[in-house]
Amino acid sequence: MASATTDGFGHDTTTDEVLEGIDLSGKLALVTGASGGLGAETARALAARGAQVVLTARDLAKAGAAAQAIRDETGAQVEVEELELDSLASVRAFAQRFLSRHDALHLLVNNAGVMACPESKTQDGFELQFGTNHLGHFVLTNLLAPALLRAAPARIVSLSSRGHQQSPVRFDDLAFEKEPYDKWVAYGQSKTANVLFAVELERRLGGRGVHAYAVHPGVIPTDLSRHMAKEDFEHVRQRGGGKLQLKTVASGAATSVYAATAPELEGRGGLYLEDCHVAEIDDGSEARSGVRAYAVDPDAAKRLWTLSEELVGQVFDL
Ligand SMILES: NC(=O)c1ccc[n+]([C@@H]2O[C@H](COP(=O)([O-])OP(=O)(O)OC[C@H]3O[C@@H](n4cnc5c(N)ncnc54)[C@H](OP(=O)(O)O)[C@@H]3O)[C@@H](O)[C@H]2O)c1
Repeated sequence: MASATTDGFGHDTTTDEVLEGIDLSGKLALVTGASGGLGAETARALAARGAQVVLTARDLAKAGAAAQAIRDETGAQVEVEELELDSLASVRAFAQRFLSRHDALHLLVNNAGVMACPESKTQDGFELQFGTNHLGHFVLTNLLAPALLRAAPARIVSLSSRGHQQSPVRFDDLAFEKEPYDKWVAYGQSKTANVLFAVELERRLGGRGVHAYAVHPGVIPTDLSRHMAKEDFEHVRQRGGGKLQLKTVASGAATSVYAATAPELEGRGGLYLEDCHVAEIDDGSEARSGVRAYAVDPDAAKRLWTLSEELVGQVFDL
């Protein structure tokens, strides 16, 4: 991918600024949860640089409108596909359809997610946030790995969150069977799982030219907050040190497209990024940024992979 410089990239950098000078023609990108929010903007920005994009969504009417807006603006080839990440049957059916149509996948952006929802389960009986945010993408990525390997160099970007700081993966009580359900702890462990997944993907695929990244996009007003009450906004504000430094959607999606394309990331991965930079490990109690050590721990990453295989009933020998 052509040159770009990260000089000056930061909190307010936009997708188009990150991608300036980058040519994605001939590349195929798949963005999950792309009917709105960060996913739609990520797909638009990649399409604007010449990528062919596949948008996945559970609401096809909403995604169809997002796809048409991208076609109108960029002239790019845009496909819309149904994918419910809280149903492994839907994930497997989608992967089969995708692989029957496409040999190679250059960029996979695991963007879809839910946050702080009331206690609930996926269609397969997993805690909803872990099941949707991690397990759905775990199966999807593994099933699409042959196409990523054929496209190498290729990249996998998973949307994590600073919310990962609220909990490691709770291997001894993943589904809140011992402790009462806490919607923020559940979100936190699912977002830690997104980082650990990138670490283990990198170990397994990095040597073959497929690199994996986890991203904190920032704090962006989107439909993600649909389950939040007034006191939840206060909770998020306190975690941010008493203030919410909001981003626009174009700046929120910038770190995703940075992870997907930045030339300086070529050849390395297993990294957590925020504000268009690789973040440092920070375990300080006052840490407002950075990644917790437990989220990049290689042993926890291997353990999560094995546990995820057991839960979904499928071994992925990548
Ligand atoms: N916004 C923020 O401040 C923020 C901060 C940190 C991390 N993030 C992460 O960024 C990612 C994108 O979030 P966003 O802010 O753009 O939120 P959003 O506007 O709510 O977008 C989330 C997308 O995920 C889709 N989705 C949810 N559950 C799904 C399921 N079971 N199957 C398939 N698709 C599903 C939604 O589809 P529907 O439209 O059908 O619901 C939507 O398209 C998430 O992973 C989130 O955790 C966001």
